[in-house]
Amino acid sequence: MSQPEATSEACTVVPATAGAWPIAQRIAGQLSCRVARHAEEVISPVALFVDHDDLWLQKRSSEQVSPVRVDFASPGLQHRRKSGQNELLGRAVGVKGDVRPSVLDATAGLGRDAYVLADLGCSVTLIERSPVLAFMLEQALERASISAIASVQLACSRMQLQPGDSRNYNTSKETVIYLDPMFTERRGSAAVKKDLSVLQALHGSLENEDEQLLAWAMSQPVRRVVVKRPLKSPALDLRKPSHTIKGKAVRFDVYAL
Ligand SMILES: C[S@@+](CC[C@H](N)C(=O)[O-])C[C@H]1O[C@@H](n2cnc3c(N)ncnc32)[C@H](O)[C@@H]1O
Repeated sequence: MSQPEATSEACTVVPATAGAWPIAQRIAGQLSCRVARHAEEVISPVALFVDHDDLWLQKRSSEQVSPVRVDFASPGLQHRRKSGQNELLGRAVGVKGDVRPSVLDATAGLGRDAYVLADLGCSVTLIERSPVLAFMLEQALERASISAIASVQLACSRMQLQPGDSRNYNTSKETVIYLDPMFTERRGSAAVKKDLSVLQALHGSLENEDEQLLAWAMSQPVRRVVVKRPLKSPALDLRKPSHTIKGKAVRFDVYAL
């Protein structure tokens, strides 16, 4: 596994309270990010606010002010769990009867799809190349391990984080690779768009290498590769899937290998 790539100028660490300044300095050093004492001093597109027991991303723009957290016990994820919205993703990776595949989520992001799969009973390896997001995932998994919600603890015990670029990873135990690349043309709820717009600001300077990611996934010794796509977009790299599972806003292209 390679080390995570150097953080760009995209993010500045800011203490959420005056007492959190030493924490902000430590995290900024760890992530090779700039640090600022106050939000007004931030010139990067995104700020990572840190406090003693909390951290969140915030985009620096007037119309986008809501914070984005990685929180596996959040009401949003717990609602998604109860509403059965996870069924399509589960079917796409091959959850059926007693079968629970071991999944490599090669584009972990905020870890939501990975959590859904783990909650369905899959063991999930999460790979994330952004050091900031990998750090947020690590912290969220730590908090989840002592969550008061038993299902959150259980799901997160099935999740393993690997910071770095997936293309440097050789699969061994996983049987399915899941890709949710950073496509711009997202539909869905305002909340989903808001979160992804923060991710896009964070990744602004990174190259889009989705086709390479697919080529890497197809070269791995797994049974299937699943790619999340906007409902009406062409298949990634125009590669025809074996079959497709359609939702209201997105679809899953399944490549059986
Ligand atoms: C759209 S987000 C994924 C969202 C995720 N499915 C969720 O439920 O939160 C895509 C993520 O993939 C990551 N990514 C893109 N290419 C990658 C690579 N080669 N290796 C690891 N992570 C990658 C990006 O940093 C970004 O955070």
